[in-house]
Amino acid sequence: MQQLKGRDFIVTQEWDMDELRAVLDLARAMKADRFSSSWTRLLEFRTFLMFFYNPSVRTRQSFEAAATELGGHAQFLEPKAMRLKTAKTAGETVEDAAKVMSRYAVGLGIRILEDKVPYYGAGDELLREYAKWATIPVINMADDKFHPCQGMADIMGWEEWLGDLKGKNFLLTWGQGALARSWCSVQEALLVASRFGMNVTLAYPEGYDLDPEVIRWTEGNCKANGAEFKITHDPEEGYHGAHIVYSRNWVSPDAYKDGVFDKQGEIEKARKYTGWTTTAERMALTDNAIFTHPMPVDRGSEVTDEVASGPRSAIYDIAENRLHVQKAVMALTMSDVDNEYLLDLARQTLEGKAE
Ligand code: CP
Repeated sequence: MQQLKGRDFIVTQEWDMDELRAVLDLARAMKADRFSSSWTRLLEFRTFLMFFYNPSVRTRQSFEAAATELGGHAQFLEPKAMRLKTAKTAGETVEDAAKVMSRYAVGLGIRILEDKVPYYGAGDELLREYAKWATIPVINMADDKFHPCQGMADIMGWEEWLGDLKGKNFLLTWGQGALARSWCSVQEALLVASRFGMNVTLAYPEGYDLDPEVIRWTEGNCKANGAEFKITHDPEEGYHGAHIVYSRNWVSPDAYKDGVFDKQGEIEKARKYTGWTTTAERMALTDNAIFTHPMPVDRGSEVTDEVASGPRSAIYDIAENRLHVQKAVMALTMSDVDNEYLLDLARQTLEGKAE
């Protein structure tokens, strides 16, 4: 594996499997021995900058906790409090901002999606513009296309519940709801599920297609693993034999109109589709599946309380795993400690715990 120091993390698809596996191994060790001195000085006195164009609970809290637990500090920045150049206002360029931030910090996280971008893909483009000019790693904290830290936390949680995922059946289904959600979490879930060898069923009402490039990548990942990929518009079919059920609302491809995110229009459109809630009756059709969701959960719409809070719900484990995978990504990409040395420490920690 190449050293990950300095690498951007914008989508899991751009990292090799051994690199993703290194993140998971280190994250498991960091979870097993959370406050070990092996980890608590990896970013001592270092600063991680976080730009949040959109609100967040888990991402902000888990990155702040991650920086603290690695011995450093995470600085919260709201772009509205800065003087950045936009299409409508004069101000500082991305080039200047990125170059200056690189002098202060060891990493830069950015969240930008939904109503903060004028068209689908603009958020991802902005991250890549920062990555082009910054000399420190840029970490995607959810843009309009991808949410790689969520994807890694998902995989870590699914493996904790089910062991090896190869050949297991993954259902990703559209869910009812009034939150007009972006595509980033569900697209990342398709990518990681297919990369890790699962058979993938994607279920949604007609008119809710996801990004064709992500669908092509998912098909390619499944093919490379000898796994199946299927799309259905039947709300029930995918539950049969599923090992993992992921239900989540997402917006249609028409969400952006004339440079504006039409949230209200999307909420009204989604109301027309009923029968897309994950229920205990549907979970009974599965092969004792776990329920997964990146949170926040729209209870009563995407999923019933009974399932979301039931004995096969992995949602809190996965929310916790955001902390551990982000610590691992930060350590591997931002710390001065050699990656192989860190992975040796991880192996020793996990072997010690197994004895
Ligand atoms: N899953 C996730 O990213 O949660 P937040 O939007 O609360 O950060």
